[in-house]
Amino acid sequence: MHHRRLIHVAIFLLIFVLYSLFKKSPPPPSVKIELPVKPLKAFIYSAYYYPTSKSLGDNALALLMSINLPPTPHFSTPDFKEIIISAENSTSSIVVRTPHHKVNYNDHCLIMTIFATAQLIPNVEKIKMVSDDGMTEIPFTKPSYVNRDVVVCVAPLFVSEQWQNFLFAVHIYKKYGAFVNLYLISAVNTFYNLMKEYEEAGYLSIKPWVYVKFSGIPKAIADTNSQIELRSQAAAQSDCLLQYKEAAKFIMFFELEDVIIPRLAPTYVKEFQQLFNSDQLSYIYYQRENYNAVVTRYGGRFSLKNMFGSLTYKNFREAGKSVVDPLRVNYTSLHFPSHVPEIEKYIVSENVITHIKTVDWVDIIEDPNEKQVVEPLYYNGTSETIISKKDILDLEKDFRKMRKQLQLKKTLSKLPRIRYYSVLAYKCYTMKYYDLYYFNRRSGITCPGPLYCKFKQHPKINCMQANVTYSSMRKLLPITYYYATDPHFSEDIGCHAH
Ligand SMILES: *[C@@H]1O[C@H](CO)[C@@H](O)[C@H](O)[C@H]1NC(C)=O
Ligand SMILES: *[C@@H]1O[C@H](CO)[C@@H](O)[C@H](O)[C@H]1NC(C)=O
Ligand SMILES: *[C@@H]1O[C@H](CO)[C@@H](O)[C@H](O)[C@H]1NC(C)=O
Ligand SMILES: *[C@@H]1O[C@H](CO)[C@@H](O)[C@H](O)[C@H]1NC(C)=O
Repeated sequence: MHHRRLIHVAIFLLIFVLYSLFKKSPPPPSVKIELPVKPLKAFIYSAYYYPTSKSLGDNALALLMSINLPPTPHFSTPDFKEIIISAENSTSSIVVRTPHHKVNYNDHCLIMTIFATAQLIPNVEKIKMVSDDGMTEIPFTKPSYVNRDVVVCVAPLFVSEQWQNFLFAVHIYKKYGAFVNLYLISAVNTFYNLMKEYEEAGYLSIKPWVYVKFSGIPKAIADTNSQIELRSQAAAQSDCLLQYKEAAKFIMFFELEDVIIPRLAPTYVKEFQQLFNSDQLSYIYYQRENYNAVVTRYGGRFSLKNMFGSLTYKNFREAGKSVVDPLRVNYTSLHFPSHVPEIEKYIVSENVITHIKTVDWVDIIEDPNEKQVVEPLYYNGTSETIISKKDILDLEKDFRKMRKQLQLKKTLSKLPRIRYYSVLAYKCYTMKYYDLYYFNRRSGITCPGPLYCKFKQHPKINCMQANVTYSSMRKLLPITYYYATDPHFSEDIGCHAH
């Protein structure tokens, strides 16, 4: 009893002495308050290994990733200047360090896209990303080596319904010699079925575009719902560039609403060769002129001829789009590769992009079998037309050939007759982004992230949406790498914005 009380007194005295000592000690030296350093999280979209490459060097690796690097110098950044990669083949291994480059820059978004490339060794079997306290083996693929004149990379579609624009674009691209690589996040399922039929017929390749996710990582560290610009469109376009870098003579970065009818030559490749011909150009930039189209809402009555005949110029232009020489460009942002010097660019005055800005879906439209062909006018107010009568008829013939194939499965007659999600998406982006942007109230702008718009689901309209498997990763410092595997389309997710 007595003993225990003594211990209490001793503890009390000890605490008192410590307290006094602490109280008398001089104040700590003033230190700059540092924001806590966030651990870095990088999501790898693409890892291409080039056994040979005319522009990146042989055995090169090209990487594209989204990373939670803060966009301004005011945030405290961990020291992350280089990416470290380890590669193994059956006989040897190598570790390389390489700088990374910003693909796009939106100072409202806390997650950005970066590019890096490095030369590895022949016949690589394993690639690992190196962190201070561990390594992450990543999957990689080889790019395409099938020679093509022109590839058009179509920016990711989401909750897409505009099948008329799709038919218009794919037939035009095929006729003038471009292969279509289309990224798809989601589309109304009857429209998806149409795309698949065209893919089988060799008009295009559909590539699922995935939603970035860092499994088990809280929003405070990396908010993939709201901090990735425009569903990583720039990353998708850059992925396409890397995939066809060795295969294509020219690559166009367009949206589904954008088409070019060549004016200088009968094909894209010849028009581009003429325009690139002069100097050491890396890319050419076409202006986009806005048009309205009037189309039937009934798949069974659609005709390209009628769609051409309905085009009217809206008297204003949109920010343009580019066509690049893939040997001279490694990555691109949305409208042009912004890191390439201005002198390597040519602004095309000889032709423009026809941009289908608005589309009216109507009930009554002339009989598609009607012989009359109307050539739509070129934007510049002269009697020049966008396309010749002969070309319109060639395109119509090609469409009718496809239509015959599609009749069996009734693919066309099942297409959507009303617009629902595309209207919601248009309203949301116009209200929350473009209006603020164009009317210079930019302070109201926030990052246009994947869940920027939320859509009330329509009970009768379902979507096919890209889905993947996300692996959860052991946390490494200063950076953890993530990736997705097994991309596929699923009907069980719904029609959502990401
Ligand atoms: C593309 O990458 C290669 C290999 O690193 C480099 O030599 C070239 O300068 C890069 N091109 C551009 C435009 O950055
Ligand atoms: C592995 O890489 C080394 C180093 O570059 C190279 O000499 C060797 O030929 C490669 N092995 C194979 C099987 O390609
Ligand atoms: C309109 O475009 C055509 C074709 O590029 C060109 O020949 C013509 O000079 C242009 N006219 C005007 C008024 O700009
Ligand atoms: C998405 O893919 C994952 C992995 O394959 C699967 O577990 C999940 O059920 C899928 N989700 C849907 C809605 O299909």
